[in-house]
Amino acid sequence: MTEPEHADSAFFTPDQHGRAALLEAVAAVVTSLEHVPDRPRSSLLPAELQALVTAIEICPENGVDFAEVAAIFGSVVWANGVVPTDPACVAHLHPPTLLASIATDVAVSATNQSMDSWDQAPVATEVELHLCAFLANRLGFGPAGTGVMTSGGTASNVLGITLARAAAAAAIGVDVGATGLPPEAATWRILSSDQAHFSVQRAAAQLGLGRSAVEIVPTDAAGAMDLSALDRALRDLDERGCRPIAIVGTAGTTDLGAIDPLDGIAERAKASGAWFHVDAAVAGSFIMSPVHAERLRGIASADSVTIDFHKLWWQPFNASALVVADGARFDLLRVRSSYLDRGDELEGMVNLVGRSLDTSRRFDAAKVVASLRTLGRRQFAAYLDAVLALANAAADQVAAQPGWRVLAPPNAAMVVFTEEDATADELRMVQQRLLARGEMVLGRTEIKGQPALKFTFMNPTVEVDAVPALVETVVAELRAIRR
Ligand SMILES: Cc1ncc(COP(=O)(O)O)c(C=O)c1O
Repeated sequence: MTEPEHADSAFFTPDQHGRAALLEAVAAVVTSLEHVPDRPRSSLLPAELQALVTAIEICPENGVDFAEVAAIFGSVVWANGVVPTDPACVAHLHPPTLLASIATDVAVSATNQSMDSWDQAPVATEVELHLCAFLANRLGFGPAGTGVMTSGGTASNVLGITLARAAAAAAIGVDVGATGLPPEAATWRILSSDQAHFSVQRAAAQLGLGRSAVEIVPTDAAGAMDLSALDRALRDLDERGCRPIAIVGTAGTTDLGAIDPLDGIAERAKASGAWFHVDAAVAGSFIMSPVHAERLRGIASADSVTIDFHKLWWQPFNASALVVADGARFDLLRVRSSYLDRGDELEGMVNLVGRSLDTSRRFDAAKVVASLRTLGRRQFAAYLDAVLALANAAADQVAAQPGWRVLAPPNAAMVVFTEEDATADELRMVQQRLLARGEMVLGRTEIKGQPALKFTFMNPTVEVDAVPALVETVVAELRAIRR
């Protein structure tokens, strides 16, 4: 049997030798980042990228020196990604990431704790619980408030609505996890606005209720749920003999950033016995700013809240949390397993698998805690102000262009806009041509049937002075298409 060449240095060891080897490897990775372009993306198209990527032999018979591999990654992969730090990378809720988070993630990979059971993640479990308690506290929950980290806003919403379904079943004496949906489930409904994220529908589909169980509540011109429409929908459900099992409020819709009237929704959820879930994937970080937290009034009455750290908290993917007002609710989902979560562990050993839809899971709380502590709340709040200022400046700039208008004043980091005569196809061409040339990664969406373009400002270090050029680029591209 032949000995592998790098056997003793292929794995991280926490001794001096291992740390030195890791530092060298990380230095090679950091060097390779010199290939990241100083533009929103390279101008290579799918076939060209495919040719570059498929030329990389994935697992050669004999291994290649890591410095060489890192260099290839630099020139092929990091050179051809999108660049979320770039001022013209403005399509999605896709943030540049904090240095402290990136660096902490190295240790997360090196030490590889797994969040499913306490015996695989003793202190990491305590860090995740500490972070969830911090969120619960800032949301205004009582001492029973806690949560669990998930892979994203979609997963958090699905988990929140899964809890809502389990609570609805428990209220009629059914353990839905054990025996499946009872006949009454045919009448169960979830209410959310016409601007809510599609993951609400996905949850209904996955939970056996079907997408048709989601009752769509109309929104006002700003994109926030219309409370009188919610009242009508609840009355209508009552008349049809249907039961509202959950009302989903959105704190920051994906396009307009609209914040639903959470206090009004909370009242109605309570009166109708429905679970109140808030999807705060977009505007959840407003809890860190005394100015903006006020806009989330009512969130303290939620049963569950989605927080998405990999949006306006500037964290690397993946990092999200589902925060609940009463941690005991997680027991509704718990499945015991003989090897992982037996329930006979020593006092205080929490197995987070009992709260999660995942089993093995990365230690995502580490980077969040390390970076928030490094940044501090005041700077965090200043970053929020900065991205909102960019959105406001862009809205003003768009409105100043003859024929152009914003669909609604910005509520968060997004600006949705169009030109009065622009067709959907023209807007598509503007967005696709700028993307293909690597000049701008611009958003494109549709609000209540109205096609539109979208800027999403995620980089708080971009100067407001950079905004006019972005607007002019878009305006000039439409002109060029029409020429
Ligand atoms: C309001 C809202 N909720 C949920 C999500 C889904 O989040 P994720 O992409 O982290 O799954 C998004 C994504 O943009 C969103 O805007």
